[in-house]
Amino acid sequence: MDKFLIEQSLNLKGDIYIEGAKNSCLPILAACILSNGNVIIKRVPFLSDINIMCNLLKEIGITVNKDLINKTLNINTKNIFNKQVSYELVKKIRASFLLAGPLLARFGKVSIQMPGGCAIGVRPIDLHLKGFKALGAEIIQEHGVIEINAKNGLIGTEIYLDFPSVGATENIIMASVLAKGETIVSNCATEPEIVDLIEFLNKMGAKIEGGGTETIKIKGVDSLNNCTHTIIPDRIEAGTFLVLGAATKGEINIFNINCEHLKAITSKLKEINVDIEEKDNLIKVYSKNIFKNVDIKTMPYPGFPTDMQPQFMSLMSIVNGTSIINETIFENRFMHASELSLMGANIKVEGSSAIISGVEKITGSKVKATDLRAGAALIIAGLCAEGVTEISDIYHIERGYYNIEEKLKNIGAKIKKIRV
Ligand code: UD1
Repeated sequence: MDKFLIEQSLNLKGDIYIEGAKNSCLPILAACILSNGNVIIKRVPFLSDINIMCNLLKEIGITVNKDLINKTLNINTKNIFNKQVSYELVKKIRASFLLAGPLLARFGKVSIQMPGGCAIGVRPIDLHLKGFKALGAEIIQEHGVIEINAKNGLIGTEIYLDFPSVGATENIIMASVLAKGETIVSNCATEPEIVDLIEFLNKMGAKIEGGGTETIKIKGVDSLNNCTHTIIPDRIEAGTFLVLGAATKGEINIFNINCEHLKAITSKLKEINVDIEEKDNLIKVYSKNIFKNVDIKTMPYPGFPTDMQPQFMSLMSIVNGTSIINETIFENRFMHASELSLMGANIKVEGSSAIISGVEKITGSKVKATDLRAGAALIIAGLCAEGVTEISDIYHIERGYYNIEEKLKNIGAKIKKIRV
């Protein structure tokens, strides 16, 4: 169980290079199951979640060759077979359930356990299953195992999602690409990661239109083949460094980003009074201004991302005035509030709202990363707090931030990983 020791480190200065998006790479890896050839994926963030997904693919006969230096994966599905993958891996990442759609499409049936992942809410999979059912599959759920069987093949249909779930949109698209006829999915998620998945599938020969809009049309094709694809930049990693730059009153250049994907985050930071300069694939964050309180409501894209809510809570804790966060996506995503309170933050949680009254200073303490983005929030708080902050359970942080310790040291942060 490793820990981070962080000393107050203000005025961080330097360059940060953003990795490929974890949340784009995970569904794209699952989508490789649909290929009949060789797939090359570039700008891969070699995080623990990605390694788990690669191991899941290997369990079903897929060859996965890692080129860590060039951040590339070479994947071949020539020897693929269908079997229930091991629960030890499935329970570690929520995204393991993204194997269901492509396996169902390729083999007509799949047997898979309920997924794991960050404990930020109940996280049901009913919308995924409703989609598979509408495409003609039968579903039996017993003893934590889900058997999905499309005896007569998958047939294109119209599917309306009750909520624009990211995972359900991805799974249903992947299940539909080899179905007979046309599938129309309405009220789908419009996240950039969905658009990236669709671009990847279309490069392999799929016929999908409407990515990035609320209605996606998929015309079934017979098979998918080779392709080379570069993963989009990670907007949440970039957003985290933006907040970190603002909170430490630093001056950070963030490279390899797509400014368009960061609009909800940059506009909130500007509202707080943070100075931001945007140029093509670079954002500079700096500010000596006095920051203002703001209110945030998490929403599906293009709204404010739930995955940036904890990091903003750290910033709001040290900003003058009272800020309110309304979390509408996950029902249990304020676990970082009590950890920040241990550091002296003044936060009250009432149902789906957190009321944050800015304090003059926070102080280092022993805290726990309860999930991935909560861990990122604690790093930001630790850099701003007087004294030393000790963060435990940092494996959560390493699930989503590649080389975070080194990246932070390069911009002047006093952070050290210790083995316990
Ligand atoms: C993805 C992201 C995660 C992000 C989330 C919301 C990946 C690997 N993870 O997670 O980082 O926080 O989007 O932007 O891309 N829901 C149901 N039934 C379902 C599916 C979802 O009720 O069948 C609910 C969930 O419980 C949650 C909400 O819908 O309350 C959003 O979930 P969803 O968009 O599916 O998130 P994930 O795909 O799990």
